Amino acid sequence: MHFLSFTSIVLLQLTFLGVLHGAKWTYTGPEGENHWSEHYPYCGGAFQSPINIKSELLRFDPTLRPIEVQNYNLSPKEQLTLGNNGHSVQISLPSKMYISGLPQRYTAAQLHFHWGSSSRPTGSEHMVNNKQYAAEMHVVHFNSDKYPNMSMAVDKSDGLAVLGVLIEIGEFNPAFEQFLKFINGIKYRDQKVQVPGFNIRALLPARLDEYYRYDGSLTTPPCYPSVLWTIFRNHITISRKQFLSLATALYSSHAQDSVPVPLNGNYRKPQPADSRVVLVSFKEGRGLHGIPTVTSSLVRKQIVQQLLVGDLADLADEGLYQLLPRGSEKIHAGKKKDLKNQQSETLAKSKQQTLNPSLWKKSQTNRSVGKLGLAEDALCYVSLEQRVFHQLKQSHAETQLVQALRDAVFPDLNLKSYLDCKSDLALPAIRHILRGRPPTDEAKELDRSLTKALMNQKKTSTTIKQSVPVTKYGGLSPATVPRKPHSQGYPHPWLLPMEWED
Ligand SMILES: *[C@@H]1O[C@H](CO)[C@@H](O)[C@H](O)[C@H]1NC(C)=O
Ligand SMILES: *[C@@H]1O[C@H](CO)[C@@H](O)[C@H](O)[C@H]1NC(C)=O
Ligand SMILES: [Zn+2]
Repeated sequence: MHFLSFTSIVLLQLTFLGVLHGAKWTYTGPEGENHWSEHYPYCGGAFQSPINIKSELLRFDPTLRPIEVQNYNLSPKEQLTLGNNGHSVQISLPSKMYISGLPQRYTAAQLHFHWGSSSRPTGSEHMVNNKQYAAEMHVVHFNSDKYPNMSMAVDKSDGLAVLGVLIEIGEFNPAFEQFLKFINGIKYRDQKVQVPGFNIRALLPARLDEYYRYDGSLTTPPCYPSVLWTIFRNHITISRKQFLSLATALYSSHAQDSVPVPLNGNYRKPQPADSRVVLVSFKEGRGLHGIPTVTSSLVRKQIVQQLLVGDLADLADEGLYQLLPRGSEKIHAGKKKDLKNQQSETLAKSKQQTLNPSLWKKSQTNRSVGKLGLAEDALCYVSLEQRVFHQLKQSHAETQLVQALRDAVFPDLNLKSYLDCKSDLALPAIRHILRGRPPTDEAKELDRSLTKALMNQKKTSTTIKQSVPVTKYGGLSPATVPRKPHSQGYPHPWLLPMEWED
């Protein structure tokens, strides 16, 4: 007797898989955010969002231009779809809306919100120095120069750009009311209504020139690390009544479900910053005086170039500190001179044997930098590296595969990261680059310092965060990238072992 035909078994299995990989995820309980990575592996990977934007992560980037939004002022004649997708309230946006001023055009797709609850009115996803706001709006755009639509862009490293707006309870917000007045038409999951267009620009803060910028991910499954984040420095306000309307009107369950589940508290907790820095477009304001300027990619390339083939004593004198966090300049300045004097004789000899600095810069450019290809859309190496490691670890294959990847893949990825990305230096990769050089005195010296720095770093990072993958392969583990390179009160690991004199 066959109760189930083969086809219905297959269908049952497909249904089962559909439940696993479909939209069934929540913010709390057995499908809550701590379990997302079981079905959506990227959620447990690197480069995740949101983050807590702490002062020590900030780097001023003078190249960040004001955000410019185009065609955001919609006419009431244009119909927008307002919907409840069970996780948020979302407004579809017409493709004539876009962000200009980024290297590529990012076309608007939708906007949605994250919020707290009536009893706990703190539900923003991003925090600024541990402060969580009442709510947060995300205006989602995709890279339309490169991809035909949202679904093609969503999992690409340069696929999305999201504008994040922090929302505080305060003054009544008339722009918010333009869609809030229709919210009772979408009380239940999968309900939609058409609403007249309005000025979406009025939902953004007045100043679009002051913002935080970092590379991150979707904050909901499948958590692809595909988002160029822009979080505006200035928040907007909505009234308490408006907040309560958002926090109490909606359900994450369907209209026909017997037990209605309120839709609120739909925010993800902050994710590790990993080795990321947060670029800022502004330099003025409380507590921002000491903010270091981010290293330009040109300087970064020059420094890597010099690590590869240049004069290490010159590097110690002027270049290296520029990639280090604040406060390191002074300490470096005093110490490097000693090495230079001590070893000037050796250096003079080695210079004669090789090339003079202006010559090597030209002649070596193709060999080292050109060889790497510098793929523009390369995921920042560190992210990729951590993701690969994480996935290998989950599949318990890390011992075989990491060993192989370590030599073949990671050094190039790391090198690319230094050239293309904005982060602080990862010590293992620097040491790897250095070890490609002839073992001159100053190379050995620098290598010894790096070994000590790595040991110090491991000590600090394992005490800070137990989940840091501890190397099994001696000191040179690409997975041991600095997780929290500059925790309060602790100098950067680079600074500790710089005993150039010994
Ligand atoms: C997105 O573009 C791809 C490639 O052109 C196409 O195959 C796909 O159907 C499009 N998806 C949507 C939702 O339009
Ligand atoms: C570097 O590459 C460019 C183009 O690929 C070539 O024109 C140039 O001659 C190369 N320079 C050196 C020093 O090899
Ligand atoms: Zn969002």
